[in-house]
Parts: sequence; C-alpha cells; structure tokens
Amino acid sequence: MTQYKIPVIPGDGIGPEIIREGRKVLDTAGERFGFDIEWVEYPHGADHYLKTGELISEDTLKELSQYKAIYFGAIGDERIKPGILEKGILLNIRFYFDEYVNLRPVKLLEGVWTPLKDKTARDIDFVVVRENTEDFYIGIGGRAKKGKSKKTLEVMRNMYSVKFGLDIDSDSEEIGYQLGLISKEGTRRVIRYAFELANDRNKHLSSVDKANVLSDIYGFWREEFTSIAAEYPDVKTDFNFVDAITMWFVKNPEWFDIVVAPNMFGDIITDLGAMIQGGLGLAPGGNINPEGTSMFEPIHGSAPKYKGQNKVNPIATIWAGALLLDQLGEKDASSAIVKAIEHNIVNGEVKTYDMGGESKTSDVGSDIARLVKEI
Ligand SMILES: NC(=O)c1ccc[n+]([C@@H]2O[C@H](COP(=O)([O-])OP(=O)(O)OC[C@H]3O[C@@H](n4cnc5c(N)ncnc54)[C@H](O)[C@@H]3O)[C@@H](O)[C@H]2O)c1
Repeated sequence: MTQYKIPVIPGDGIGPEIIREGRKVLDTAGERFGFDIEWVEYPHGADHYLKTGELISEDTLKELSQYKAIYFGAIGDERIKPGILEKGILLNIRFYFDEYVNLRPVKLLEGVWTPLKDKTARDIDFVVVRENTEDFYIGIGGRAKKGKSKKTLEVMRNMYSVKFGLDIDSDSEEIGYQLGLISKEGTRRVIRYAFELANDRNKHLSSVDKANVLSDIYGFWREEFTSIAAEYPDVKTDFNFVDAITMWFVKNPEWFDIVVAPNMFGDIITDLGAMIQGGLGLAPGGNINPEGTSMFEPIHGSAPKYKGQNKVNPIATIWAGALLLDQLGEKDASSAIVKAIEHNIVNGEVKTYDMGGESKTSDVGSDIARLVKEI
C-alpha cells in the first residue's frame, strides 16, 4: 500500500472543522484506492501566534519542504490586526515554496445554482491558472511628496533579483506609485504549465492581459505566450483583454477550457469564477510548485462568526483535498471525490445552510465519504 505523509494546517475559525471533514474523505478515498495517509498536524494560526509570538518559523518551513503537498484550512482572527496572519503564514508559505501556479477550477457541479441564467453544469467547466508570484503584487512602490527624492526598490527571487533606483522629481502635492514586474522566467514557466494542462484537457488555452493599455508589461506576456504556443501546435489559443473576459465569463462560459492570467487579473477573474460556480463554499484552490511543495485550500477565509458551530460547508475544502490527491498522482481517488461531491449535491438531502439545507458540516463530510466508497 502506498504511504503518504501530508502536513496539515487547520488554522483559525472554521478551519479545524472543515479540515476534519476533508481528512475524513481523503482517508476514505485511501481505503478504497489503496493508499494510506499519515497526517502531520501543525498548530500555526491565531492561537499559536498569541501564545508564542511565532507566525511560521524558518525551521518549520524547512521541515515542510520535505513534503509535496500541504493541506490548509483558513486563517484570520478578530483578535489580530488584519493581514498579519495572512502575510506571515499564508503568503509566507506561498512565497517560500515559490508556488507560482494558483490553480482554480471553475466548475459548476451538477445540482448547484448559478446566478448565470440558462447556464448549466455543461456550460461552466474551466480552469484558471493564475501566476502567483509576480506582476503588480510584488509589493514594491511608495509615496512621494512635492519635490525631489530618491528611492531604491528591490525584488529578490531565487531565479533573479532586480533593483530599481528612482530619482523622483514631482510637483504634485503627493503621489502614490506601484511597480509591476513580470520576468521571462516567471512568465514562461506558468504559461508552459497552462499549455500542459490544456494539452491534457480540451486543447484550448485563453490568455488574459491588458496589452492594449499596459503594453510594456503585458505585451511582453503576449510575446512569451506566442513563443511557447509554437511548441503546442495542437492547442487552440486566444488573447483576451481582462475587461472583456469578465464579460465572456458571464455570457459564454462554455467557450473556456484553460485560462492563464498574470497575478492581478487572475485574482480578479477567479472571484468572478467563484460566484458563477455557486459561491465561496464551493471554490477550491491549489498553490502549486510542480517541482516542490504545493498547498491546497478552500478559497474562502476563516468565517470566525461560524467557528465551532459545525455549520459551514466543507465542500470547498474536500474538493481542495481532491486537488491535492491529483497533485500526488492519485488521479482516480481525486475524481472519485469530485464525483461524490456531485452526487451529494444532486441527492440534495445532506446539505449545509448556504445551500438551503440544515445539515451539519460533519454530516456533509460523512455523506461524501460514504459516496466515495459507493460510487
Ligand atoms: N485563505 C485564507 O485563509 C483567507 C482567505 C480570505 C479571508 N481570510 C481571513 O478570514 C477572515 C474572515 O474573512 P471574511 O469574513 O472576509 O471572509 P470569509 O470567506 O471567511 O467569510 C465570508 C462569509 O462567507 C461565508 N462563508 C465562507 N466560507 C463558508 C463556508 N465554508 N460555508 C458557508 N459559508 C461560508 C460566510 O457567510 C462568511 O461570513 C479574515 O480574517 C480574513 O482575513 C483568510
């Protein structure tokens, strides 16, 4: 029997209760598909921070680097200033492990309501590959008051480092500015990942940018996309401006198979994706480094007001667990879990409040685990 060791960070708020159900379903999938999971639990989150002052240490990150995939609940707690835990733990993990792909399946499951009129599960089934490390989210920028000033801005990566020396001479009362950057290395690896995915699915890849206005940065993105496209002659491609693609997601979601986007636009369009696939309780995500340590999580937060009530929907977390198994190569177990989720929803008997039901988080987890065994 294959043995896996999977580190798990349940986190804050509803994190522990949704992760419990995810583990239940993944353990059951293991029984059926012939693997065994040893879960290695990590305490990181609000309580741990308040008790010890530690967000996540270099030693812990080093220890985590021996694993292929981390299972993550959610973090965020009202006792701690917004952003501290998210930056110190979640973003730190994504950055440390260079998880350059943010993978977001946008799939309307059978039986789920979508706000898009006349669209069904047949129409909404695509995957967004969002670049996860560059673009306008590299965090360099500043403010400058009227007059002359200097500023040095640096981007340090394993793959490269870049230094900007700015000589600012402004007669505006005050300015705020932000630099966005994409590198050849960073752009090519995420686009290649998306082409590989498209090659394995319906051989259609749509690129997102705003090359008509931000032509230096996204013109570069287009060039790299075009150069890699030449290696995949069987994959049909198209370019979409980000404003237009939000329109097409609503009007013709059936057009899309795989969508690849730079970081900021990817962030925006995946929230739209979450809504058309039925809302936050149903949207999983993966932060992937195909050669290193990846992390899988629901995209929603820690919903502190529901903490400990056994009330929220565990489906996004269970689905994130299916993505994790896919990353480990357990393809059959992964698709059995997605099918079991779908059956649970179509049966319509065991569902949480957000889907119009009264069942508990643990009831939904148990029902999906039962279905994994049966279907
Ligand atoms: N990845 C993460 O860990 C992550 C992501 C987003 C927000 N956060 C943090 O979570 C905390 C709460 O943030 P928020 O309230 O803006 O967002 P949230 O996603 O935690 O919750 C917003 C609302 O969505 C609904 N919801 C969320 N998950 C649900 C589920 N599984 N089932 C049913 N309904 C669900 C609830 O009504 C909830 O009040 C903050 O501290 C925030 O920083 C963490």
